[in-house]
Amino acid sequence: MLVNMKDLLRDAQKGGYAVGSFSVANMEMVRGVIAAAEEAKAPIILQIAEVRLNHSPLALIGPLMVAAAKEAKVPVAVHLDHGTTLGCIGQALDLGFTSVMFDGSHLPLEENIRITKEVVAMAKPFGAAVEAEIGCVGGSEDGSEDIAMRCTDPKQAERFAAETGVDALAVAIGNAHGNYKDTPHLRFDILEAIRDCTNIPLVLHGGTGILPEEFVRCYKTGIKKINIATATFDAVERSVRESYTAGAIKGYYDLHCAEIRGAYENAKKHIAIFATGGHA
Ligand code: 13P
Repeated sequence: MLVNMKDLLRDAQKGGYAVGSFSVANMEMVRGVIAAAEEAKAPIILQIAEVRLNHSPLALIGPLMVAAAKEAKVPVAVHLDHGTTLGCIGQALDLGFTSVMFDGSHLPLEENIRITKEVVAMAKPFGAAVEAEIGCVGGSEDGSEDIAMRCTDPKQAERFAAETGVDALAVAIGNAHGNYKDTPHLRFDILEAIRDCTNIPLVLHGGTGILPEEFVRCYKTGIKKINIATATFDAVERSVRESYTAGAIKGYYDLHCAEIRGAYENAKKHIAIFATGGHA
């Protein structure tokens, strides 16, 4: 069933777990992720980032994501990841997304607050949740840029949360998008300080490559939404490659099934680490 992200994250706060937010690019990934969630009886979030819409246009993939969420046997929120333009955010809301992110992390704080407030006002008539970001998560969502990492200042986070009224706040604590060059070690001192002064669900971007024990510490320290993108795409690609190598692809539908399987295995693994199973 299609649900609001606010409700998912509030339940995760009460239940002491995190919800995986899986990036998808086509129907096969949507189906693989939902199959894993249904099997584990886990709520999940399906997301797509604005920068990916040149490959998967929102007018096509958006209705597919919303329809798949409505059909699912578990609660599914549908989220626009890293929205950068108000036009795209408005389109996602019109299509029935139950959550949108405005990413103004590269802007001066005042401007990030001003535009985020506009997005909160836009989302309100739809009853949709809003996520925003302060500090800078490293890398970039599509690997096209190498944005330098800048950890979130807890005092700024406190002010940002109070002034904007966002439902979820993405933080930078040593995390980065894409595959890490070295094993990342997150700044739990900063995360604790942000949690203590904001009291809203926090979001961890750059989930690919974070150690399982660090994920666990994250969801015990206020992180309630964890974004996984690169790991999904890599798992799908690997599953297809292994199937070809094994001679298991005899025609198009074997390829189709290998894609679904890759997305399913990746989501299953992360749902288990995030302790989301059984909370649907
Ligand atoms: P990864 O690609 O590192 O998993 O990051 C996902 C993400 O944060 C999307 O917003």
